[in-house]
Order: sequence, then structure tokens, then C-alpha cells
Amino acid sequence: LTAIILAAGKGERLSLNIPKQFIKINGKEMVRIAVERMLKLSPKDIILTTPKKYIERTKKLFEGVDKIIIVEGGRTRAESVSRALELVDEDNDVVLIHDGARPFFPIDKTVECIKAAEEYGAATLAVPVKDTIAMSSDHNIVSFPDRNKLWAVQTPQCFKPSIIKKAHELLKKDNFLPTDDTSLIIRYNLSEIKIITGDYYNIKITYPSDLLFAEVIAKKFIDK
Ligand code: CTP
Ligand code: MG
Repeated sequence: LTAIILAAGKGERLSLNIPKQFIKINGKEMVRIAVERMLKLSPKDIILTTPKKYIERTKKLFEGVDKIIIVEGGRTRAESVSRALELVDEDNDVVLIHDGARPFFPIDKTVECIKAAEEYGAATLAVPVKDTIAMSSDHNIVSFPDRNKLWAVQTPQCFKPSIIKKAHELLKKDNFLPTDDTSLIIRYNLSEIKIITGDYYNIKITYPSDLLFAEVIAKKFIDK
């Protein structure tokens, strides 16, 4: 297993003066919580993307932690993934891709995700959506997809290396801005994607209110 942890974003929607991955939650930097959790899976290595300006800071944060390879991220999430994938061997069993902004991912479900990727080629954690979701046009509702078929897609997402490398190769010649990696697998029809039901604690810290929820999760979170 090689794990890629993405932490090269700017955190613009949080509107703070540093990228969100360096914000402390219950006394620990978000990216450190994510990395320490990932280490429980005993990956061969963890490739961590970080903004160019923060490479030194990131190195300092993980001083003495072997297994961590720090890579400068790209302008988009997909570019960051692509740069990290350049360091992944094809003969690796599974590549796991994870948002550093989801520090509370469940270990047990992630193990299932890895196994499913080995068997089927691709897998992701996801949870059933709680809200009713509407399709709109010009701020008017047009239709309602059947909620029973809707999932909120999370990370970790796991892939056979050849499949995800192929996806990012195809993306380079494509005008598409994905927000995750399984969407590429569907777009280029490269594999089936198994859904592993994750859990609702695995929030992506995106808006200021998420930091409040994160404090509570960090304090009450039961290790799995
Ligand atoms: N990410 C990355 N490289 C980028 C953009 C995003 O590695 N060029 C990472 C982020 O650090 C984050 C994950 O991808 O862990 C999911 O992205 P998102 O939640 O959108 O984070 P940001 O891009 O930092 O936030 P925002 O979109 O609000 O600026
Ligand atoms: Mg973003």
C-alpha cells in the first residue's frame, strides 16, 4: 500500500490566513492527525502534497517520521494527485488517495476499501445522503434524483495503480476539473467502483462551521 495524502490546497472557503491543513484541531494540526491515522494502516510510504511555500514547514512538522515523502502540489487537486502518482510504482498493490482535510477517516472501513480495490480495481468510502437533493436551473428546482440512489462520496479512495495512473494520463488531454478521483474512473470507463459505506464523522473541513464540528469529533471520536 502507498498512501497519498493531499494537503496542497489553499483552504480559501475557510478564509483564514493559513491553509486549513495547518490549523490545529484539539491541539494538533489537521494534516498531522490525518498522517498519524494513516500510519496505523502500515503503508509502505505516505506521499504528502503540500503548497510550495509550506514545504519547509511541512518537513519540520514531520521531522523524524520516516515513510513520509513530501511533494510540492499542483494548482488543482487533480494536479497534486498526478504529481504524487509519478512517485508510485505500477507494481504496487494498491494506491490510496485521501484528502488531508478529512482527518477523521475510519480505519476499519479504509481496510475494506483497500481490499475492494485489490479485488475490483477501484473503491471509495461514501455515505448515504441525508438531505433531499434537487437539480436546479437559474435557481429554480427542475427535478429530484431518487435519494435512495444518492451517495455523498468521501475519501479514502483506493485503486489499482495502473488504473488510476491511466485515468490521470487521460485527464491531461481533457478539459475537466474533477473534485475527486473516482469521477475520472467513470468518465474514462476504466473500472467498476465499489462503494464502502463509511461514516458521518469523516467530514471534509471546508467552511468555518466545520472547524466547530471537528473540535467535537476530535474530543469524542472513538478510535476504530
Ligand atoms: N488539494 C491539493 N492540491 C490542490 C488543491 C487541493 O492537494 N491544488 C487538497 C486539499 O489540501 C484538500 C483536498 O485536496 O486536502 C480537498 O480539497 P479542498 O477541500 O477543496 O481543499 P482546498 O482546496 O484547500 O480548499 P478550498 O477549495 O476552499 O480552497
Ligand atoms: Mg479546493
